[in-house]
Amino acid sequence: MAKRGPTYTCQACGAVYHRWQGKCDSCGTWSSLSEEAQAAPVQGARAASSGKARGRVFALESLKGDTQDAPRIVSGIGELDRVTGGGFVPGSVLLIGGNPGIGKSTLLMQACAALALAGRRVVYVSGEESTGQVRLRAERMGLAEAPVELAAETNVEDIIATLGQGARPALVVIDSIQTMWSGEVESAPGTVTQVRGSAQSLIRYAKTSGACLILVGHVTKDGQIAGPRVVEHMVDAVLSFEGEGAHAFRILRGQKNRFGATDEIGVFEMTGMGLSEVTNPSALFLAQRDQAAPGAAVFAGIEGTRPVLVEIQALVAPTSLGTPRRAVVGWENSRLAMVLAVLETHGGLRLGQHDVYLNVAGGLRVNEPAADLAVAAALVSSLTGAILPPESVYFGEIALSGAIRPVSVAGARLREASKLGFEAALMPSGGADAGDGSGLNLRRFGHVTELVADIAANAPRKDVK
Ligand code: TYD
Ligand code: MG
Repeated sequence: MAKRGPTYTCQACGAVYHRWQGKCDSCGTWSSLSEEAQAAPVQGARAASSGKARGRVFALESLKGDTQDAPRIVSGIGELDRVTGGGFVPGSVLLIGGNPGIGKSTLLMQACAALALAGRRVVYVSGEESTGQVRLRAERMGLAEAPVELAAETNVEDIIATLGQGARPALVVIDSIQTMWSGEVESAPGTVTQVRGSAQSLIRYAKTSGACLILVGHVTKDGQIAGPRVVEHMVDAVLSFEGEGAHAFRILRGQKNRFGATDEIGVFEMTGMGLSEVTNPSALFLAQRDQAAPGAAVFAGIEGTRPVLVEIQALVAPTSLGTPRRAVVGWENSRLAMVLAVLETHGGLRLGQHDVYLNVAGGLRVNEPAADLAVAAALVSSLTGAILPPESVYFGEIALSGAIRPVSVAGARLREASKLGFEAALMPSGGADAGDGSGLNLRRFGHVTELVADIAANAPRKDVK
């Protein structure tokens, strides 16, 4: 039989050790281990291991059969419904993560109020704020009249017992899962074991009752949903709410979704009256563009199913350091290193003595390789001092050979650019769907040398070879 005794659980990743140690071997975090009582074995597990268990016999089904489309609870907040895949699914569990103060509670209160006003039973349980605080916020947003049922509670058994009274709620919000504790778990509140146990009980409630459950989760410095990563595996959808402190707008991003596409984004702006939807994000991201400066290129990107235009800014400046500096905001470091290497090797640029800074304007995070061409154009523009034509958009993936590769959904990118008044698109020369009806001047490039030559032709400084 396994040795029973105290165990030590990493509060960052949930790895379990029998001995205390300073650093978690699994995730590398220091001082994250804390002593926890071992979770009681799952009922029936002991019997099963003795080999005498007789399980319940259940019927197996075939893949083909009658299934209903999951009915959706539409909040009416378009940007939120888009990310959830068309509304909340009854009996499903969503986890919303985000930095403190980003607006998770605000967004969820708005969703609750919208559903409650539409006649659904909605319960909002806050473990962090008193009902007075929640009420004050709702008042400030003009939502005080919405019949949302409020509670400031942290005990999971009490919450589930209360929810069992009266009609089944359509939506239950738990703000936040880290503040919940269950009497069935012998561990201090806030520990991984507690969070996991509480989440399990709440998820079981959602699955059996058919209520949609939203859990709010805190996020650590490195962007993980703090405490148990296991919660991410237990839920049906994980959404993250992101934004830069200095910017008023916020992006809700799907990371996992069993009922819809991931990579969808919803864009909001934080105002004095709560979050307002931004239905045309491209216009917002391009709002304060300085068109007369070198080093800026507009990237025609795709976020989920939606085209989003965003400005990529580069600054290439002679370095005073032994090792030049490379700093990136909103894009991948390794991807920048690759584009720089390709520009040096195949484009003939000399960047070894230059610091390189790259920024995606407005705080958006771009994950697409299709941004390579816009990044390359911005870098070459900054290095040569050549201003890129402000009415052009860029997209295309750059291969290590320097070839510019076609990317998906070119048509949607072009149409969005055309809609926003752009006149030209610099894009890969291959690719099937291109330019249909966009009316843009399509300038196609097959290799980075062509791009560099094209930009350098307008350069005021001719010192670049
Ligand atoms: P909150 O929803 O409490 O964030 P979270 O739950 O993610 O921690 O949002 C808090 C911030 O939002 C706070 O800094 C104030 C700001 N805010 C506004 O600017 N306008 C508003 O109408 C509201 C309600 C909040
Ligand atoms: Mg909050």
